[in-house]
Amino acid sequence: MEHLVSSWYNNRSLPESYILPPERRLGNLIVPLANNIPVIDLGGHDQTDIIQQILEASQEFGFFQVINHGVPSNLMDEAMSVFKEFHALSGEDKAIETSKDPNKSCYIYPSSANYATEKFHLWRDALVHNCNPLEECIQFWPEQPPRYREVVGPYTAEVRKLGFRILEFFSQGLGISLGGLVGNQNLVVNHYPPCPDPSLTMGLGKHIDPAFINILLQSDVYGLQVFKDEGWVVVEPIPNAFVVNIGYPLQIISNGKLKGAEHRAVTNSNIARTSASFFISPSHETLIEPAKSSVDASHPALYKSLPYKDFIAKYLANFSDSKALEEALRTTV
Ligand code: OGA
Ligand code: NI
Repeated sequence: MEHLVSSWYNNRSLPESYILPPERRLGNLIVPLANNIPVIDLGGHDQTDIIQQILEASQEFGFFQVINHGVPSNLMDEAMSVFKEFHALSGEDKAIETSKDPNKSCYIYPSSANYATEKFHLWRDALVHNCNPLEECIQFWPEQPPRYREVVGPYTAEVRKLGFRILEFFSQGLGISLGGLVGNQNLVVNHYPPCPDPSLTMGLGKHIDPAFINILLQSDVYGLQVFKDEGWVVVEPIPNAFVVNIGYPLQIISNGKLKGAEHRAVTNSNIARTSASFFISPSHETLIEPAKSSVDASHPALYKSLPYKDFIAKYLANFSDSKALEEALRTTV
């Protein structure tokens, strides 16, 4: 636990291992606010219109925000509060609170899951735990802060419902039933402490998520950026909204029509930022391949057919090189 950024960062300059090579660091780039990432109102009754908006946003950006989504705003606020309280615990308490499951369905790490082997570290701590089935998983979740389970249990149940509703919109839009293909559903609570030099490092480097979708709760602190038309733009935090982004599997299933957008999280020197990703992923045996409805004579399959577990192996092997990953997933014709 002594490696968690939150355990040692106070009054320290940036350690050498956090100084990224120039092409991976933020630098002095001024990144503009994205003024056109769609904000989709899920409260309306015109399902066809909602599906259309979701598909268009996913083609154009791979990102959208949702409002009137059905998750109570007080539950979102309480969840954000307990996430912050959790990351404010001592390193020792965090170790105790994340070691209740011998099978490690709940854990915490600094930087990335590859902390032990990576050459450079990221300015981030992450708490990870499974969320489904809730009754089984919850017994391994933190019991500090004392309200953790009481708040995060209902929070993940609500976000899960929202996630499945959004997946159903994609199912209808793409003509393939995604609900039955779901496997892992987990929560990643990211914490980016104030950073002595945000220009030299990164909270999370550029990546495309390997899940079907991520339903992201961000606090009111800016930090999420999306790559769009050869440049980075900031995804503005909107009160009571969730940010939704699609991952690689939907890009493949839609035969490249929808975009698994590249995104990253930057740090800042004044204030900690906390965010929570709820990932809904395919089951290991699910074949990730262009859906029949996306392929015809003029749109041949661009991607190989791979069981999700093999997709993940390729994803992890090419994690830091998005071009190499795309090549590894493409058909050769
Ligand atoms: C992620 C992610 C962005 C953020 O968890 O995969 O992209 O704003 N998070 O923390
Ligand atoms: Ni991500």
